[in-house]
Amino acid sequence: MIGKRNIILIGPMGSGKSTVGRQLSKYFNMEFFDSDQEIQNRTGADISWIFDTEGEKGFRKREKKIINELTESNNKIISTGGGSIKSKEIRNRLISRGIVIYLQTTVENQFNRTKRDKSRPLLNIDDRKKILEFLSHERNHLYEEIADIIVCTDNHNIKSVTRKIINILLKI
Ligand code: S3P
Repeated sequence: MIGKRNIILIGPMGSGKSTVGRQLSKYFNMEFFDSDQEIQNRTGADISWIFDTEGEKGFRKREKKIINELTESNNKIISTGGGSIKSKEIRNRLISRGIVIYLQTTVENQFNRTKRDKSRPLLNIDDRKKILEFLSHERNHLYEEIADIIVCTDNHNIKSVTRKIINILLKI
């Protein structure tokens, strides 16, 4: 039984965390939060603007604060920014504050899903595939390390990914 535990979605950009999170929120009747969206709500600025003016370091500081706040209480579905797990402090926090679900995907799929995206500053470069590959080497082992549940999203639409997660969660 998941009870009142938070359900925390982790995974790289374009893995579907926010869309899956919203669907889980409807099914379980739990409130949904997206760490990027919360940062934007608080600052009144978008992620690219924060990266431009405060650098990645400034953004990560805000991200840590928001994730700490969001995980302070229970009964939420939380989608986390793809790079948040670089921080050991955040990883420990997530492990101890909910059921951590890793939405796994390939670089190829990420590349296709983020094609027209202008909102992710790290992808604002010519060779997007190269950076996605770099990030997957840097981070995939960290997602794996803290995940309670790993769900492969490749070749599955969001609905079937959500259904898979619901089935797993109903059994634990
Ligand atoms: C980032 C992922 C983004 C956002 C920021 C940095 C990353 O979140 O936090 O652009 O470092 O992978 P999504 O994973 O929700 O796209």
